[in-house]
Amino acid sequence: MTQATITTADLHAVKLMGVSKRYGNVTAVDYLDLEVKKGEILGLLGPNGSGKSTTIKMVLGIVKPDTGAVNVLGINVGDDPITVKRRIGYVPEAPRIYEFLTGLEFLDFTGDVYGMSLEEKKRRIEEFLKALDLEGREGDMISSYSEGMKQKVVIISALMHRPELLLLDEPLSGLDPKSARIVKDLLRELASQGVTTIMSTHVLEIAQAMCDRIAIMYNGRLLALGTMRELRQKAKMPESGLEDIFLKLTGTGDVKPVVEALTK
Ligand SMILES: Nc1ncnc2c1ncn2[C@@H]1O[C@H](COP(=O)(O)OP(=O)(O)OP(=O)(O)O)[C@@H](O)[C@H]1O
Ligand SMILES: [Mg+2]
Repeated sequence: MTQATITTADLHAVKLMGVSKRYGNVTAVDYLDLEVKKGEILGLLGPNGSGKSTTIKMVLGIVKPDTGAVNVLGINVGDDPITVKRRIGYVPEAPRIYEFLTGLEFLDFTGDVYGMSLEEKKRRIEEFLKALDLEGREGDMISSYSEGMKQKVVIISALMHRPELLLLDEPLSGLDPKSARIVKDLLRELASQGVTTIMSTHVLEIAQAMCDRIAIMYNGRLLALGTMRELRQKAKMPESGLEDIFLKLTGTGDVKPVVEALTK
């Protein structure tokens, strides 16, 4: 490919341009500009209510922005939401899955929704059930699963159709250490194959260990964006870990008085 033919769509998996969302008096996302490169893992951090889930939902196309536009894999989400959704894997923060189905029935149904062939669907489901230690429980009703088991089913349903973009809202919550490690390694491997991930998390060690770049949101805005190194520079904390940087940048650095007040 020559230089002249490289377009924005080739370089960026996701581009948000001046995107806002208001709910009544609350501004959930405030004129957000953000570009995520192909094959990048972007960590979305921020205090509760800072706009992470709303941002993810606007990228997916299930929340319509009040201003601006979202481009995903070269497609304007507002123009062609169905095509975009086909190419995305989504783990919502509070997944609602059909509890009256078995794990296998749910995954089978999900595979059909994505138009997977019978053979591919069977193979992918078997591989994932084995990798995430769900083998033997796939015939049980989802209502009988533990929270972590339900989360695993949701993760499988997001990954099984080989999406090009993963939107993961707190994906590792509830997973035991071995399963969390498998998912983390898998995401890194997928990234090396060109799969892009936007992942929200409150577990800063996960963000620090896994993400190529980290976006810190605050009141619907981007407070900081960069690699760990860049964030350290911005916070003028060259030796610090992400937790201290996060607390400083979000203006919540001194938590001691708060704890003292609560324990009086
Ligand atoms: N459907 C909705 N109706 C009304 N307000 C909403 C809705 N969804 C989000 N909000 C508001 O928008 C703001 C941002 O919410 P959002 O869920 O994006 O935050 P978040 O960063 O994902 O928080 P958390 O870390 O708690 O998951 C919050 O003030 C929230 O109350
Ligand atoms: Mg959220």
